[in-house]
Amino acid sequence: MTTHAGLPDLFGRATVVMGGHAGLREGMQLLRGYSASFREEVTDSADSAKACLEAFGERVSAHFAAEEGPDYFGTFADESLSLLQGITQLKLEHTELSRLLAALRDFQDIELRPVEFSRALDAFLESFVAHERREHALLQDFFTAGDSELPAQR
Ligand SMILES: [Fe+2]
Ligand SMILES: [Fe+2]
Repeated sequence: MTTHAGLPDLFGRATVVMGGHAGLREGMQLLRGYSASFREEVTDSADSAKACLEAFGERVSAHFAAEEGPDYFGTFADESLSLLQGITQLKLEHTELSRLLAALRDFQDIELRPVEFSRALDAFLESFVAHERREHALLQDFFTAGDSELPAQR
């Protein structure tokens, strides 16, 4: 049977990181709203969209750093060698998502190319959500590992 000696601590840290996900969802909702305006070539919110993207970018960077720290992904990797491959993949995705985010933050003259910006923003948000889903599924597998060997509840 699989045992997770550090599980209570790890679960606490996972809960903190999951709380970070909730904050990120708010930012994504705002960015989707801006993207919808730019798709319609309404550009009067370009400055606030940029500010929102900056704030979201800071949050994402902090979030990735927290996940990649020894207290989180590092602990999962120590607890389960089978997770190591998945975690390596998630870290590669962090690198790629950070690159896409940097390109969005560097995007000049949204007013002149709003549809192009909207497409790039949508593509980033889609990739980010797909990443978070994979991450969630991987960690869920970890927390439920061994449950099938527990006696059924009566
Ligand atoms: Fe992640
Ligand atoms: Fe995450």
